[in-house]
Amino acid sequence: MSELPPPARFGSSPALPVLAPGEIHLWRMALTRDEARIAALRDLLDPEERDRHDRFRYDVHRERFAVRRGALRTVLGRYLGRDPREIRFETGPEGKPELPGRPLRFNLSDSEDLALLGITRGADLGVDLERVREIPDRDDVAGRFFSPAEILEYRSLPAEARLLAFYLTWTRKEAWLKARGVGLSADLASFDVRVEPGPPARLLRVAGDAEEPLRWTLRTEVPAAGWVATVAWRGTDPRFQRFEFLFP
Ligand SMILES: CC(C)(COP(=O)(O)OP(=O)(O)OC[C@H]1O[C@@H](n2cnc3c(N)ncnc32)[C@H](O)[C@@H]1OP(=O)(O)O)[C@@H](O)C(=O)NCCC(=O)NCCS
Repeated sequence: MSELPPPARFGSSPALPVLAPGEIHLWRMALTRDEARIAALRDLLDPEERDRHDRFRYDVHRERFAVRRGALRTVLGRYLGRDPREIRFETGPEGKPELPGRPLRFNLSDSEDLALLGITRGADLGVDLERVREIPDRDDVAGRFFSPAEILEYRSLPAEARLLAFYLTWTRKEAWLKARGVGLSADLASFDVRVEPGPPARLLRVAGDAEEPLRWTLRTEVPAAGWVATVAWRGTDPRFQRFEFLFP
């Protein structure tokens, strides 16, 4: 596989979503630039989010933040039966937002004008989304960020398979880190993921714990043509439901 599979189908968004045990709901969000919609979603933000919003230097980044946070609050409000404005987040030591005292877990990722939100119950969840595009120094970036085993596997692939392998590996690593709430402090050489695009995504090795890879599921997602994502979930055999966030 040196090309992405076709995008998954995302169904219309339920007003009252029902999340069964062992299920992951994926919400695709187009980060609109429509002014009225941005304003309506910005209205849902709390003072801390407003502060962050105001500090973005570029309009496009400020708008995307308002939309993804407002949409996140709207969606979580439906699961919790709460007004989106009343949702309170707690932030982990490396910045992961979570819902205090609730079994509901979520993780969001954005790339350019698309975001992907994962929601589950009671299990660690991480999502990483990337727009697949060529970057000039890709092999050097892989050399800096991948583990020694991943670099070997990456370099053994035919040149035409490497662009996709790069983004799959990147999102696999990042999704697993995000599931655990790890940020920039990550030791990227202390674990290996599968690099090869063909077979299913997998966590292959975690230093110091031979059993740890068996506790995780990594799943490749193609939410839209040209984007690739990985969902990392602490558990086995998750069932997926996919919804499109529809703007009010
Ligand atoms: C936040 C981080 C984990 C990811 O940043 P990113 O890829 O730019 O952003 P994404 O769009 O995928 O995710 C951002 C969202 O994740 C969530 N998030 C923030 N910190 C997080 C953390 N430590 N763990 C999990 N989720 C986090 C937030 O919802 C955030 O959305 P927001 O900006 O609206 O608040 C950042 O710490 C990072 O860049 N780490 C780099 C780790 C690394 O070196 N990876 C290389 C892999 S090869």
